[in-house]
This record gives sequence, structure tokens and C-alpha cells, in this order.
Amino acid sequence: MTAAPQTARTLATPFTINTVEIPNRLVMTPMGSDLANPDGTVGPRLLKYWLERAEGGCGLLISEVTRINDEHGPGTPNQLSVTRDELVPQLAEAIEAVHARGTKIFLQLQHPGNQGHSAAQ
Ligand SMILES: Cc1cc2nc3c(=O)[nH]c(=O)nc-3n(C[C@H](O)[C@H](O)[C@H](O)COP(=O)(O)O)c2cc1C
Repeated sequence: MTAAPQTARTLATPFTINTVEIPNRLVMTPMGSDLANPDGTVGPRLLKYWLERAEGGCGLLISEVTRINDEHGPGTPNQLSVTRDELVPQLAEAIEAVHARGTKIFLQLQHPGNQGHSAAQ
């Protein structure tokens, strides 16, 4: 089925969320990919996943659940993490690579609560 012309035009229209301008309405919802490195850094597999979607035309990527707490363990074994300062430069580099393709990216932050896998730390 082909999209009606009006739908296609709407999809191509930019919109803003607060101060962030999203270039079109194709948004990748957050999906736990299990593709980050075990230490919580982005790593080549998750970066490739993000860049393929940015190059495919998504205006906004929303990361998978990203952990904010090491004490209670990750929510999934290879979960993206922002729990330590040393994780930030590599994440910033990956985000710059997404931005360089004209795509915005949001991080979805997560505390796993009673779903934490503390044995996987
Ligand atoms: C494999 C998989 C992982 C997902 N991981 C997350 C997640 O990390 N965070 C979240 O808020 N939603 C997650 N979701 C939900 C999706 O973002 C989305 O809301 C859901 O698939 C329904 O989308 P739909 O209404 O377009 O079908 C996940 C879905 C799938 C299939």
C-alpha cells in the first residue's frame, strides 16, 4: 500500500519538542536491543544499529532503557549505561555521529526496580 500524498507530506514535516527541532515525524520508539557492550558503553553493534536507522531517515531515535544505577544491576545484560562519568565521552561521540546524519536522539533513562539483574553486574 502506498502512502497518500498528504500523509507523506506530513511525515516529512519538522516539529519541535521544547527547543529540539526534529526534522521529520519518523520516530524510532525505544527498544531494548541488548547490543551495547557489557560495561554499558555504546560499542560498535549498538552504534551500527543507531546509524543505520539515522541513515534510513528517522528524524528522532529514542534509545533503549539506559541504566542510571549500578547498585541494583542492569535491566538487561548488555544495557546502555550512564552511571559513571567515564561512560560519557564515548556516548557523546556516538550521539555526535547520529547528529551528523541529521537525526536527533533522546536517551530513555531507567531504574529497573524489581526487574534488575543484580547477578549480571
Ligand atoms: C524488543 C522490544 C524492546 C522494547 N524495549 C523498550 C524499551 O526499552 N523502552 C520502552 O519504553 N519501550 C520498549 N518497547 C516498546 C516499544 O518502544 C513500542 O512502544 C512498542 O513496541 C509498541 O509500538 P507500536 O505501538 O508501534 O507497535 C520495546 C518493544 C520491543 C518489541
